[in-house]
Amino acid sequence: MSKPKILVARAVFPEVIARLEQHFEVEANQADDSWPKAELIARLQGKDGAFTTGGDRIDAEVLAACPQLKICANMAVGYNNFDLDAMTAAGVLATNAPDVLTETTADFGFALLMATARRITESEHYLRAGRWTKWSYDMFAGSDIHGSTLGVLGMGRIGQGIAKRGAHGFGMKVIYHNRSRLDAALEAECKASYVSKEELLKTADHVVLVLPYSPASHHTIGAAELALMKPSATLVNIARGGIVDDAALAAALRDKRIAAAGLDVFEGEPMVHPDLLAVSNVVLTPHIASASLPTRLAMASLAAANLIAFFNDKRPLTPLNTAVLAIK
Ligand code: DGY
Repeated sequence: MSKPKILVARAVFPEVIARLEQHFEVEANQADDSWPKAELIARLQGKDGAFTTGGDRIDAEVLAACPQLKICANMAVGYNNFDLDAMTAAGVLATNAPDVLTETTADFGFALLMATARRITESEHYLRAGRWTKWSYDMFAGSDIHGSTLGVLGMGRIGQGIAKRGAHGFGMKVIYHNRSRLDAALEAECKASYVSKEELLKTADHVVLVLPYSPASHHTIGAAELALMKPSATLVNIARGGIVDDAALAAALRDKRIAAAGLDVFEGEPMVHPDLLAVSNVVLTPHIASASLPTRLAMASLAAANLIAFFNDKRPLTPLNTAVLAIK
């Protein structure tokens, strides 16, 4: 029997490709340039499955053009690159890569918060530019992390990881807002209190965004929300571009309506709003929150395991649209 055919849409660890090759006929994009939609469709012709990353959009047009496709396995926990309804309607299974990146991403969220509040990159640029000539009482004086109020917007697994780091490691008071409230045991574990979004924005010293992107969460933070925040507050986005109105944020940073921001994700990335590049009170990183080598390998391995399990016995590890499995 011939092996199923798989497209790997972006470069990935050679050992993961080697594992896929044990099970599948593999075409892999080791050049690592994102294919435009027409090329993605052309490459998907005759493929039974795809290994995708967050930049590979799978929508109704792609699905209609690739009738042989049965599964797309995302090497990401987020899956806003998938039109899940269209995939379900087309009978194409979607899987993501949750859990394996939770702690690494929470570590990074905390690192970005620290760098932002304590002005680490801004002061490093100053030093490297040869501008450090004397000590001053308020030079790069930022805000404290310990003992401050941390507001987590989006309290899934990564949000909980950030809350625990803040509460247990830094003695922060943790408040959170989420679509649904955590049960009492989980709230106690995270030492977190549920508040409205408005109260969170008004009272937190540091706001961290960890909610999934959907049309409903588009511009969750815009000019009106930024206006509610304390002038001394910091905002950290490790969720998705589009959750923050980047133009409104750049204006708020420029006018010092909030103190600082740390951003790992951007509207239209890898493009970054030019106004963000023009302000110094923002720390900018290129969507690397999950990027430790062991975690990226675990994410790729989980995506590969989903493909293998699906073609073996239709029991993928982390399916998103299980309705598809019921009719397969
Ligand atoms: C995810 O897994 O959704 C990350 O954003 C990709 O690194």
